[in-house]
Amino acid sequence: AKPKVWVARPLFPDVLARLAEHVEVDAEAVERRHTADELRRKLAGVDAAVVGLADRIDEAVLEGHTRLKVVANLGVGFNNLDLDALTRHGILASNTPDVLTESVADFAWALMLAAARRVGASERWLRAGQWPGSHMRFDDWLGLDVHGRTLGILGMGRIGQGIARRAAGFDMNVLYHNRSRLPEMVERECKATLVDKAELLRRSDFLVLVLPFTPENRHAIGAPELARMKPSAVLVNVARGGIVDDAALAAALREGRLGAAGLDVFEGEPQVHPELLMLDNVVLCPHIASASEETRRAMANLAVDNVLAALGFGEMAGKPPTALNPAVLTHRAAHKA
Ligand code: GLV
Ligand code: GLV
Repeated sequence: AKPKVWVARPLFPDVLARLAEHVEVDAEAVERRHTADELRRKLAGVDAAVVGLADRIDEAVLEGHTRLKVVANLGVGFNNLDLDALTRHGILASNTPDVLTESVADFAWALMLAAARRVGASERWLRAGQWPGSHMRFDDWLGLDVHGRTLGILGMGRIGQGIARRAAGFDMNVLYHNRSRLPEMVERECKATLVDKAELLRRSDFLVLVLPFTPENRHAIGAPELARMKPSAVLVNVARGGIVDDAALAAALREGRLGAAGLDVFEGEPQVHPELLMLDNVVLCPHIASASEETRRAMANLAVDNVLAALGFGEMAGKPPTALNPAVLTHRAAHKA
């Protein structure tokens, strides 16, 4: 019998067709959130699954499974996967790095520019029909210039580097903070200078967060960090909800202790802190930084590449391109031999 693959989110039909050439596909036709119980039942009956960031794959969901061999995550961040539990069960996990780097870097810039120049608020005002008859003043809608300012990047992986490279066109001074220093050649390409976190907070006019979510990074930007930032600063989060303390951020924005914010991710999304929804100096987007036509297709194709390779099909058979725990495959092969 053909292996069976569950696809937890509706995907591009031609991408599903690539899977269907080799395996039996059970693809969700409608977008919905799955409970732990549903995940457990679905995963029990398949050899592989393609899951989304809202699907939490942990020990409780995996317990007792023997058939499942691979879980492909539709996203670069994989804090929805308990990688230790997957590895313990001998299940390969993969994510979608690289293919989304440039699109997410573009989007970080979209949020920086929109928040600094009040694109969202002024557009809401125009759509509300307030322009005619308003006698708009010469000094209305004044924002913050982006060019020539200091850009701080917290988390200098591939996406952070993409954001930094774009800053050259805006003649910005780029600072970064990261667990480890970048190779000198990369620093030169990005024209970025390593500083400690305190200096990054103090000097940045724009602070962009591109860290992975880990327990240590929870509330990496909370009330104490916000208090160290310039009152005019713009904070952008394209990383994960929970890296920012959204309640503390809303208070800082409301009280004028921070200039503006651009947020693509939220603590407890799809719920958004109600105070953020009330504020005009924040641009709010529904986790769409990787959502360009080309990039979402590339992510779906990469997830499918990983599934097919892990199940032994195609040119990459046995070598899933973006495995998170590739040692699982070696163990499995040794066990069979
Ligand atoms: C999106 O948030 C991703 O991790 O790819
Ligand atoms: C993180 O994985 C990044 O690409 O920056």
